[in-house]
Amino acid sequence: MKKILVTRNLLDENEKRILKLFDAKLNKEDKLYSPEEVIALSENCDGILSFTTSVLNRETINKLSDSVKIIANYAVGLGNIDIDSAKKRGIVVTNTPHVLTDATADISILLLLGASRRAYEGRKAAEQQNWNWSADLLLGKQMSNRKLGILGMGRIGRAVAQRAKGFGMEIHYHNRSKLSPDLEHGAIYHSDIKSLFAQSEFLSINCPATPDTINLLNEETIKYLPDGAVVANAARGDVINDDAMIKAMKSGKVFALGLDVYNGEPKINEEYLKLNNLFLLPHLGSATKVTRIGMGDRAIDNLEDFFSNKRPKDQVN
Ligand code: GLV
Repeated sequence: MKKILVTRNLLDENEKRILKLFDAKLNKEDKLYSPEEVIALSENCDGILSFTTSVLNRETINKLSDSVKIIANYAVGLGNIDIDSAKKRGIVVTNTPHVLTDATADISILLLLGASRRAYEGRKAAEQQNWNWSADLLLGKQMSNRKLGILGMGRIGRAVAQRAKGFGMEIHYHNRSKLSPDLEHGAIYHSDIKSLFAQSEFLSINCPATPDTINLLNEETIKYLPDGAVVANAARGDVINDDAMIKAMKSGKVFALGLDVYNGEPKINEEYLKLNNLFLLPHLGSATKVTRIGMGDRAIDNLEDFFSNKRPKDQVN
């Protein structure tokens, strides 16, 4: 049986399956292993089932045991893995696309609604039980029939567009390339972000973190947004420059922000926490049981394919 290091705890359903197929070194205590621990624990392992919290950068990958031939990431995003270094060492890397599209698109809508309808302030006011209904209590921005900009029109961006149409929104998007009409479903393409942002009364960030997208919302580009825009990020924290965003939220340039992901998470820029116009969640994009089981299954499928000498369907390098 091939030996697999599993760097975090899996749901029972996935654990049962991996134990049937592999000699799995589990992390039942769900400890956050340091890179040194991952290197030591991967000794004699044929593969690693890693998670978004496992930082497998160049230094760590270069020190992994020669026995490791595959890293199956339990995430669609691969920001935690230096894919090129893995390739140089002949290590295959896979992710888990498709299975988390719906759950993550749902969270994007939740962030847009939570931010625009002031859910954080609403919860605080309701808890105090002395709020007084009035015609102008916590007035928010209405999403229905407004323009939505989607940054990154991959599977998740397109699923956000589909949901937003139910709100009567006009969809605009920017992507590396224009989609074919059958995928666009009438959404309006912008070849540059200046033009997209100018239309984005609401903006949903759904792109991966790459050298092109890191810091894409910065002091300069936030100015392209209409005054009082609502922004939601269910992708990766590093797409937003926090200092610039905090400034824009304080000035009202950005009416409200919905965040599920953060620069340096689980830490959050302290200045954000002083703001009322922030609706925040702790990286829950894919956090439903059905989706998490799907992600585990997909990662295990990739391991199974690889060790049966088939190209894993989600191989990225
Ligand atoms: C979650 O953030 C993922 O990339 O799957």
